[in-house]
Amino acid sequence: MADRKAFRASILHCLGDPGEKDDPAAMEYFADGLLIVEDGHVAALGDAKQMLGGLAGDIELTEHSGKLIVPGFIDCHVHFPQVDIIASHGEQLLDWLARYAYPAEEAFADAEHAHAVAGFFVDELLRNGTTTALVFPSVHPQSVDAIFKAADKRGMRLLSGKVLMDENCPEALRDDPESAYADSRQLIEKWHGKNRLGYAITPRFAVTSSEAQLKVAGKLAREFPDVHVHTHLAENHDEVELVAKKFPWSRSYLDVYEQLGLVRERSVFAHCLHLDDQDREQLAKLGAAIAFCPTSNLFLGSGLFDLRAARDLCIRTGVGTDVGGGTSLNMFRTLSEAYKVLQLQGQSLPGSRALYLATLGAANALYLDDRIGNFITGKEADFVVLDYSASSITRRRLSHCQDITQKLFALIMLGDDRSIAETYVMGTLMS
Ligand code: GUN
Ligand code: ZN
Repeated sequence: MADRKAFRASILHCLGDPGEKDDPAAMEYFADGLLIVEDGHVAALGDAKQMLGGLAGDIELTEHSGKLIVPGFIDCHVHFPQVDIIASHGEQLLDWLARYAYPAEEAFADAEHAHAVAGFFVDELLRNGTTTALVFPSVHPQSVDAIFKAADKRGMRLLSGKVLMDENCPEALRDDPESAYADSRQLIEKWHGKNRLGYAITPRFAVTSSEAQLKVAGKLAREFPDVHVHTHLAENHDEVELVAKKFPWSRSYLDVYEQLGLVRERSVFAHCLHLDDQDREQLAKLGAAIAFCPTSNLFLGSGLFDLRAARDLCIRTGVGTDVGGGTSLNMFRTLSEAYKVLQLQGQSLPGSRALYLATLGAANALYLDDRIGNFITGKEADFVVLDYSASSITRRRLSHCQDITQKLFALIMLGDDRSIAETYVMGTLMS
């Protein structure tokens, strides 16, 4: 018999991209809504008063009076081994990697350590309302096993793949083109498509991979078209300069990846701060996506992401926390920094578009919008119950809001992990 559950609360989800001005047609809101979940998938959504009468008597009904249900958040770029060095002081990207990130990642040669950190990391994601993530592990295959096992145990949708890096990094973190290919293939066969898991071919960035290794990554990308590609692009000026010197034949940083076969549908590029129009046109044309990582871009002093330029060309875009360069796994903290990054450039981010970037827009960026991102019937029922009054200041501010548009914006600006009352994965309470 089907497992049927119903959840009553205010319910909000995105139907499309609201753009820089709140577009009412891009959102659907039920002040007193009912979400019906059958075997982990959305069976129906609507007005509670209209639907309750028609419900079978034995359906399990959970009431979240005064709270707001939205789709689970999707983090399009984050590093799980870096939770232990989040908020490390004082450096920009290349020095920060050498001083903090690489030493932390060396510890993931130890499978037990990888397992312990992976468990903590996915529980933190869920506690923050994030139900899907595209995750960098370390160069070690055992770190990939650890993050996939942790996600699978909790029934989460998660993408990850062994980091490829064979030069300009500590010896202990180096693989080589041959082992990168063999290990990635083996891990794809082991994990890709298992339950809700998906593989991502993950060359760290053009600084730490030889041309031979990037070619191997491109070969894998051709051989496994339904696997993702995940890397960093044009985050920091010194990085961009290094890449230009290292690949003198390239027109741009993106061109390195493109010529080596890494720019395609299901490719996700973190940051993309220092692009030109031709780069953006190529990303759009080839169906690749950008992960906008505002807290990281501010913390590492990397620059301001031009969201308007990306949207004008219809480039698929989601948000990433980029912990540990980013300073929070929480999507409200991330989106409120996104708002400020855009304010500094004369661009606007309404609450509806912020929610879109963390849900349906992110799902679209990851080519997962047929499964997650909103509450269209048949999608996987990953959702979050939000508490409008989890702190005294949000309670006070929210009590002065007139409508859902104002409430959503204030909640995003002021919210944090306290605002996440409950997180559900496929209709099951996780945290
Ligand atoms: N570029 C290459 N590796 C990294 C990393 O670990 N974090 C960030 N923010 N950028 C990178
Ligand atoms: Zn990153």
